[in-house]
Amino acid sequence: MHDFRYKNNKLYCENVRVEDLAKKFGTPLYVYSYHTLVDHYLKLQSAFSEIKPLICYSVKANSNLSILKALVAKGAGLDIVSGGELFRAKKVGCPAARIVYASVGKTNQEIRAAISSGILFFNVESLPELENINRIAASLDKITRVAIRINPDVEVKTHKYIMTGKLTNKFGIDLESAYKILLLRAKFRNLNICGLHIHIGSQITESEPFVEAIKKVSVFIQRLKAKGISLEYLNIGGGLGIIYDREAPQTAQIYASQIIPLLKNTGLKIIMEPGRFIVGNAGILVVKVLYVKRTLQKKFIIVDGGMNDLVRPALYSAFHNIWPLNKTAKCEKADLVGPICESGDFLAKERSIAKVKEGDYLAVMSAGAYGFSMASNYNSRGRAAEVMVSGSKAFQIRKREIPADLVRKEVISGELKKL
Ligand code: LLP
Repeated sequence: MHDFRYKNNKLYCENVRVEDLAKKFGTPLYVYSYHTLVDHYLKLQSAFSEIKPLICYSVKANSNLSILKALVAKGAGLDIVSGGELFRAKKVGCPAARIVYASVGKTNQEIRAAISSGILFFNVESLPELENINRIAASLDKITRVAIRINPDVEVKTHKYIMTGKLTNKFGIDLESAYKILLLRAKFRNLNICGLHIHIGSQITESEPFVEAIKKVSVFIQRLKAKGISLEYLNIGGGLGIIYDREAPQTAQIYASQIIPLLKNTGLKIIMEPGRFIVGNAGILVVKVLYVKRTLQKKFIIVDGGMNDLVRPALYSAFHNIWPLNKTAKCEKADLVGPICESGDFLAKERSIAKVKEGDYLAVMSAGAYGFSMASNYNSRGRAAEVMVSGSKAFQIRKREIPADLVRKEVISGELKKL
């Protein structure tokens, strides 16, 4: 499943001892396994080989250029959501024909940049956005491809912050409104409405909601066909859950076997946008124990990485396994907390964690997705360094931020001195 395992009680990433990396590059440190990353991409590709979808890796999950480059080199496309992600996609040489662009709030500048780059299509989330893209395409004298993001009103079992397919969510357009838009498609002279898009949420561990959403959209596609409206693409989004704790998520094979028949029936070219499935278990966050603090009520293991490095526990009460770099049988209940001045700054709560002392290292597992990409500089802490391992080789893919990086864009205006 992933390439982080113990050999003689020492944690390894592929053939490299993680402690050697922590000592060489310092902590907090993100460590990625190249093989786990690529394997997960290839697993999806082979599960779906019968229909050969375009797999557009969702950049937001982990946007490091080396991660993107590794996947693009294997043939992946990219799912982007901002001008910044477009910049990254171009920087790693992703062919424009393999880029799709979602987001409820694309700015004019971002839309212009994406049209000029010739991306495959926009996933459009509202009527005003559709009108705006049409207007901008007209001003550039271009015809631009768009897919309508459908909100299929499907319930998923996941954290409420990452459900996106209910009508109470801000995403997509309901079926009836989408139908009306499609009937009027000739009105959008500079748009080629060539597809439909769905993305119902993230960390979804069972296939049923995916099947339900795809069925709803399939019926809709038939309804459009009957009106003479034909499309070219169906983008089924991402959302595949992974194992953090004791989840038993559908495998790529099961997911594929459940939905391929439905997808084939649509007769459309299929696009998918997995993020977490590809990168989630390919990365860990290594932290160093600063202090072990016992209070009247609890034991706190205070480490040098916190919510600014990995916000998922604080934001979604997310569970990440905590593994010591040196395996020991002795465990004790503790809270694993960072140095940030907030009580929400924890990486694990009331957890049985290996008995550690100052200077020992711990690994926060399954931190490859939405880890570094959601990191911040809160408390003026530089963001962590990132390292990629392949076999016995390890190379840095992002340098640690230093204080000068934190103030680089700030100015103390001359005006201030006059006040
Ligand atoms: N496509 C769209 C339109 C999306 O909004 C997302 C994720 C994806 C694809 C990729 O979803 P995935 O395959 O990774 O589930 N920060 C949260 C997850 C937010 C997901 C946002 N959208 C977390 O840490 O759990």
